[in-house]
Amino acid sequence: LSVLSVASEAFPLIKTGGLADVVGALPEALAPHDIAVTTLIPGFPKVMRAIGEDAPRVHHWTHIIGTEAYLREAMIGTHRLLVIEAPQLWEREGLPYVDTGGNDWHDNWRRFAVLARAGADLASGAVPGYDFDLLHAHDWQAALAPAFLHYAPGPGKVAKSIVTIHNIAFQGSFAAHHFPDLGLPPEAWSVDGVEYYGQIGYLKAGLRTADAITTVSPTYAEEIHRVQYGMGLEGLIAARAECVSGIVNGIDPAIWSPKADPALPAPFTVDTLDDRIANKRAVEQAFGLDEDDSPIFTVISRLTWQKGMDVLVEVIDDLVALGGRLVVLGTGDPALEIAFATAALRHPGRVAVRIGYDEPVSHLLQGGCDAIVIPSRFEPCGLTQLYALAYGCVPVVARTGGLADTIIDANEAALAMGVATGLQFDTVTADNIVAVLRRTMRLYADQDQWRTIQVNGMNADYSWHHSGRHYAELYRSVLGYP
Ligand code: ADP
Ligand code: GLC
Repeated sequence: LSVLSVASEAFPLIKTGGLADVVGALPEALAPHDIAVTTLIPGFPKVMRAIGEDAPRVHHWTHIIGTEAYLREAMIGTHRLLVIEAPQLWEREGLPYVDTGGNDWHDNWRRFAVLARAGADLASGAVPGYDFDLLHAHDWQAALAPAFLHYAPGPGKVAKSIVTIHNIAFQGSFAAHHFPDLGLPPEAWSVDGVEYYGQIGYLKAGLRTADAITTVSPTYAEEIHRVQYGMGLEGLIAARAECVSGIVNGIDPAIWSPKADPALPAPFTVDTLDDRIANKRAVEQAFGLDEDDSPIFTVISRLTWQKGMDVLVEVIDDLVALGGRLVVLGTGDPALEIAFATAALRHPGRVAVRIGYDEPVSHLLQGGCDAIVIPSRFEPCGLTQLYALAYGCVPVVARTGGLADTIIDANEAALAMGVATGLQFDTVTADNIVAVLRRTMRLYADQDQWRTIQVNGMNADYSWHHSGRHYAELYRSVLGYP
């Protein structure tokens, strides 16, 4: 069975968030199920550098959504990678979706229509030598692909399609006047097609036309049926409820394993948890924190409203008053970056903030801090709580989406049964966060109990083993296999 996974990011080539981790891990997760996953991504400068000049050009589009492009083939580990080479679209200073000023690229409609069209061409016999049973599109950037397969396929066998929603808040809506440039037939311009509140809705189009829809946790799959989470697409989700399911993300043990992590001064296992203290000392030194035994909370996150960072920044004084310390690693809204940096100035030795994106530092914080705070207003899956579990860093999370599905709250019953893996709280308010921080401090004060929570988390299996099987089952059922 042959699957084309289409996305705008894939770790380790290009990453702005969890999407990349998941897309990067899928081929390996599906391999044990006899499913060959080829990944198709845009030729961003980092990607072109990684595949090198030698990666052969295997196809030439003279005109794909009004632009010229080549397809290059390479390998990512033992899996096939296809890259769309089109410097006029991808080779720019700035981030994948926004310019250096933080504004969406003016031609995002074209950039991601090209990605989707290339995927649809590959999955419907328009590119000689390629043949796929199924196209798996991730998020709005790839979501037009199923619509192309539906309305304007290539000349060959047309693959089935799946759209995975990693975050329904990002929908890719573009001005209607671009519609003629997409090369879709007139009937595609309807509420049953790509039209979305008078615009072209890329995610909407994919959700309408794909054979199945997944999200990245069962709870989020339920939540997006409701107005509060559906962001305008709840009606469509409800209409297609039968083909909507949630599969929790896994973590890649080759990248996230505390016993062999080059970013940790003291690698450790569940049997050598005492060694972990050396990592805590390293965090204190790296971030100029006081050296003591109080717990260090960490935040490794986009600094945005979704992540509840506006509320967390308000309670930093309380966190310090409770006796905790805090290390923040993140980038995001400029106002929040400033607010966090200011809080660090108020609390030297107790609060440290690093504005930036740093993969090795994120590993050190997971392996050295005591708890990670994730007060998300919504969280489709969330990966940092899973990394934290594996690294003995206790997750303190809002009860939503994948956070609700992956963490067992240390309530009395769970503590009595010895199954707790973290702490959960409802509704992201300052009072609720302070309350859960207080509860965390109490648990931490009982080191035996704390150790049990750490061990439970480290023993929890969030590898791709289970989720890979669920994707394999879904692929087979979409293809009508027994
Ligand atoms: P989202 O994709 O919504 O941002 P996830 O929890 O799914 O949230 O994934 C975030 C990913 O990005 C994780 O791999 C996390 O470790 C990483 N990450 C987020 N911010 C930073 C940062 N400032 N430095 C390094 N890694 C980060
Ligand atoms: C999105 C979501 C996050 C999820 C990630 C990978 O970025 O915000 O919750 O973990 O995608 O699926």
